Amino acid sequence: MCGIVGYTGMKNAAQVLLEGLSNLEYRGYDSAGISVFENNALYTVKAKGRLADLGKKLESHVLTSGCGIGHTRWATHGEPSDTNAHPHITTKLSLVHNGIIENYNQVKEFLQGKGYVFESQTDTETAAKLIDYCYQGDPEAAIREATKILEGAYAFCILFADHPGTIYCLRKDSPLIVALGEGENFVASDMPAILRFTRNYYLLEEGEIACVTPEKVTVTGPDGSPIEKKVQVASWNVEQAQKGGFDHFMIKEIYEQPTAIHSTMHPRLGHDGLPDFSASDIPGDLFQNVTKLNIIACGTAMHAGMLGKALMEKLARLPVEVDMASEFRYRDPILTQGQMALVISQSGETADSLAALRLCKQAGVPVIAIVNVAGSSIAREADYCIYTYAGPEIAVASTKAYSVQINLMYMLAVSCALQRGTMTEEAARAYLAELYATIDRVRQTLDLADTIKEYAQGLKEVSDLFFIGRGIDYALALEGSLKLKEVSYIHSEAYAAGELKHGPIALISNNVPVIAMATQRDLLPKMISNIKEVKARGGHVLLITGEDYEVDLSCCDQIMRLPIGDDAFGPMLGVIVLQMLAYFASIARGCDVDKPRNLAKSVTVE
Ligand code: G6P
Repeated sequence: MCGIVGYTGMKNAAQVLLEGLSNLEYRGYDSAGISVFENNALYTVKAKGRLADLGKKLESHVLTSGCGIGHTRWATHGEPSDTNAHPHITTKLSLVHNGIIENYNQVKEFLQGKGYVFESQTDTETAAKLIDYCYQGDPEAAIREATKILEGAYAFCILFADHPGTIYCLRKDSPLIVALGEGENFVASDMPAILRFTRNYYLLEEGEIACVTPEKVTVTGPDGSPIEKKVQVASWNVEQAQKGGFDHFMIKEIYEQPTAIHSTMHPRLGHDGLPDFSASDIPGDLFQNVTKLNIIACGTAMHAGMLGKALMEKLARLPVEVDMASEFRYRDPILTQGQMALVISQSGETADSLAALRLCKQAGVPVIAIVNVAGSSIAREADYCIYTYAGPEIAVASTKAYSVQINLMYMLAVSCALQRGTMTEEAARAYLAELYATIDRVRQTLDLADTIKEYAQGLKEVSDLFFIGRGIDYALALEGSLKLKEVSYIHSEAYAAGELKHGPIALISNNVPVIAMATQRDLLPKMISNIKEVKARGGHVLLITGEDYEVDLSCCDQIMRLPIGDDAFGPMLGVIVLQMLAYFASIARGCDVDKPRNLAKSVTVE
């Protein structure tokens, strides 16, 4: 995720910015840049790659400026490159941005009509040029004017060429703080950037604009009226601040899911309430004549694909095959005209997934990729790419990437169903409205943390465990089992509940807990029968189900109720419980939760 730092004072701004940005490196980035006032003019240097690459470019210049802004970019719109890196500049200003401008295409067209020429592929450049267009000598007035038009999430830090020494900044749905020093002040998207310099700060609220000079900070509200801010004092150290106050990245990322899902879904939800992938250059009739879809991925991404299969087949009546990428390549797959492949990958660099993609392309099968890391190999080589906007995932065990992948699975399935005439627009609108409403239910599910933690404590001495489920709950059970294995080292297996009696039930005893996923209303009676089979063999059962589902409580030992509305979206809530369960079990067993043994975040070997 991008990082912002701003500085104005007596120190060498370029050095302060580089140091501040280096404390944000943990957030992940693929390019960086700074703008400083040098001899009262704006001077900008940007570099693709690491901060060291930017540092090298800066070596040839003696910079003495005391005011500037800096940015580390995690690419979303447009690949990592010098041109796409921030700051984005015009003759009047320089701007860095965190977040996503959702209506950038419309704004860009508007500005092109006014004669503006665009160099980058970013959404940010439209914001810089729009503020430039609105600017008539009063920075705050221009910012206010522009933000009436901009839609999306943003934190901006802006230098105006004719206001040397002053930083203007504002935020909407993306955090930003103004930190206060003695004769110097700072701006930052995240606390670690400034902790070495000061601990006093103002938290900017939605729509507030701050004007920051070395001597003072003035804050005004959206209507221009002055606002008295309360100074807050940071108590975290740099490491705590990097984890946003959470103990580990995994739990931080679990809590980031409502935001990640919103960021991924909202830009793809058209004003008419229907899916709109045109900003990702996906033709509106892409699925119309497809005869079969091959979903190919590894690990967690493959589990998202299994849910995708169920959705595509149910909503769009499109036959889908799901493959582990490592198996797909060597099973001599049948690839013929009319087929399409969908490769899902958080990192976009998984070797087996990339090789499977190449195999499909060689056979003339077009490939769509769902990828989180912009500019990654899979994103570049696929014919079409839809990005998930989860931000960088740092914990090795994938959590928020899965949630945004399944969110896109729902949206793609609806888009596909509309193209194939298996769903009406009215039904699609209602379905997506309910999917959108699920984001709040995900938030409520996070409130179950204490109950989940208590259950997980009980797993401290457990060595084997089963997850069971039917239909899409089986796909979910597979992900729950993978998560638990990865971070707690408890041996677990996921089974389709109806299949249990064909063998694995022999392993059930009173020291093998069974976690039964039952988010699907119509399958509940069948699930209850399977659970009773387990109970009859002495198994201890935790049932995870909907809050208003009628359940004979004697069938299980413990129950967790989820705020499920439409059960089509039950897995989006169920997975939160399973991720937390794995996390708390790992903590209870004293494991290294963010860096589990033997595992790598991105597997670039076969
Ligand atoms: C590794 C990671 C998993 C991940 C899998 C696929 O095994 O540890 O968490 O699900 O790779 O990674 P991808 O980046 O392709 O989604």
